[in-house]
Amino acid sequence: MDIKTIGLTKIYARKGLQEVAAVRDINLHVFSGEKIALTGPSGSGKSTLIHLLGLMDRATSGQIFIDDKQVDFSDDNFSCRMRRDCIGFVFQFHYLLADFTVLENTLMPVYNKRQNFLQKALDILDRLGLLERRNNFPNELSGGQQQRAALARALINSPKIIFADEPTGNLDTVTGNAIEKLLFEACAQNNTTLFLVTHNEALANKADRILKMEDGGIR
Ligand SMILES: Nc1ncnc2c1ncn2[C@@H]1O[C@H](COP(=O)(O)OP(=O)(O)OP(=O)(O)O)[C@@H](O)[C@H]1O
Ligand SMILES: [Mg+2]
Repeated sequence: MDIKTIGLTKIYARKGLQEVAAVRDINLHVFSGEKIALTGPSGSGKSTLIHLLGLMDRATSGQIFIDDKQVDFSDDNFSCRMRRDCIGFVFQFHYLLADFTVLENTLMPVYNKRQNFLQKALDILDRLGLLERRNNFPNELSGGQQQRAALARALINSPKIIFADEPTGNLDTVTGNAIEKLLFEACAQNNTTLFLVTHNEALANKADRILKMEDGGIR
């Protein structure tokens, strides 16, 4: 899917605290199937930007267009449907559901039709080295394993857009490389648009385009 923004801005304001313009006036056009690496120092607004684009959070001002359709931030049904059917999200702090096993977490986006996706879930978990851990709960896994389970959950739906916030941040080089490979392959198969937040220069260089954030803007 194609994503465009005009003047996208997110200001955090709370009484008694200084306002933070976490994302300011971003004009962006990302094409269907394009792989974007998002880099920049801590606090520069990377997570905030992908939360806005992934319809997890509402902008303070500005517009987002997905496939030329303007997102109506007040239409929660639309955002929910988009997130469920079209978007895969790997959060910086994975947010697995603690009361569900790895396999159940993986199947969460397709819960109503999970039987149809069981084999696919097992295949993805196998590729991520998690097959043996599929019946464990998140608190029984290492940080890197939790991160991989979160990636499995993001891929189960073959989403048209994937946002991945430091998906290889907690991983050793070999595991990190395997994850990169799986992510890029999944994107190539479905012509998925990819936003990858990373501090890893080698990984960023594999993207089609690198966007550098600084102080809420894109340099
Ligand atoms: N809920 C919030 N309320 C107030 N300020 C926030 C909130 N979330 C983020 N911020 C601020 O917005 C700015 C951007 O934060 P963001 O998490 O997007 O940075 P980041 O580039 O992802 O950093 P990192 O590399 O450390 O993950 C920071 O100054 C942060 O303190
Ligand atoms: Mg972040």
